[in-house]
Amino acid sequence: MTAPGVSFTEMADPGPDAIEAGRRLFAGPCNFLKGVVALSGLPDTNRPEICFAGRSNVGKSSLINALTGRNGLARASNTPGRTQEINYFTLGERGYLVDLPGYGYARAPKDKVALWQELLKAYMAGRITLARAFVLVDARHGVKTVDHEIMKLLDRAAVSFQAVLTKADKPKAGERARVISALQDDLARHPAAYPEFIVTSSETGEGITHLRAAISGLL
Ligand code: GTP
Ligand code: MG
Repeated sequence: MTAPGVSFTEMADPGPDAIEAGRRLFAGPCNFLKGVVALSGLPDTNRPEICFAGRSNVGKSSLINALTGRNGLARASNTPGRTQEINYFTLGERGYLVDLPGYGYARAPKDKVALWQELLKAYMAGRITLARAFVLVDARHGVKTVDHEIMKLLDRAAVSFQAVLTKADKPKAGERARVISALQDDLARHPAAYPEFIVTSSETGEGITHLRAAISGLL
């Protein structure tokens, strides 16, 4: 847990050994295990997992594809609300990658959206083998009210989360610097926030080796 007053910085170079460990982890087998629609469907808690959370369309599924270097592994689409189940992927025997449905606006029936939003909140607050939640934030838009709500839920549940900026190929330099500065202030409001954030692009590959190294250190 991070005490208030901590300064938030972009993840430093983890060094060649950690980068190589991350590369090897993601070069190994990674397969879709199952899509979960109710807590009772979650796999056994016999290995650690990390999850990708964030607003609909922020780039969660695309990030899984970029990390694994496999384009169709997680289904991505321009329609917000593409991922509607808690999708589990095995990372060899080491652990699970979990692709969550988005929160906030989604182009899907209201009752269905309400169900998956309850499910993902219950999952994030209560999953005992969740080593860290990666909370994705669009590098053009920064942290929105719904992001703060999820971060508050993680604060209350004492679940460590790390912010990941996505789509870093989109903003111009000035806009990117403004969003990063605002992110630093926003994270300072959340005791469960990990002090380093990661800036990524699934398009250009920026930050992907760092994120692989971070995940490898957790699983
Ligand atoms: P939901 O499942 O609907 O919650 O969305 P998601 O967060 O999984 O987003 P998804 O990965 O489906 O991506 C949404 C859209 O953003 C797609 O059209 C992607 O091609 C695009 N996208 C994702 N990551 C990037 C990125 O790094 N750069 C750019 N330019 N586009 C991206
Ligand atoms: Mg998705």
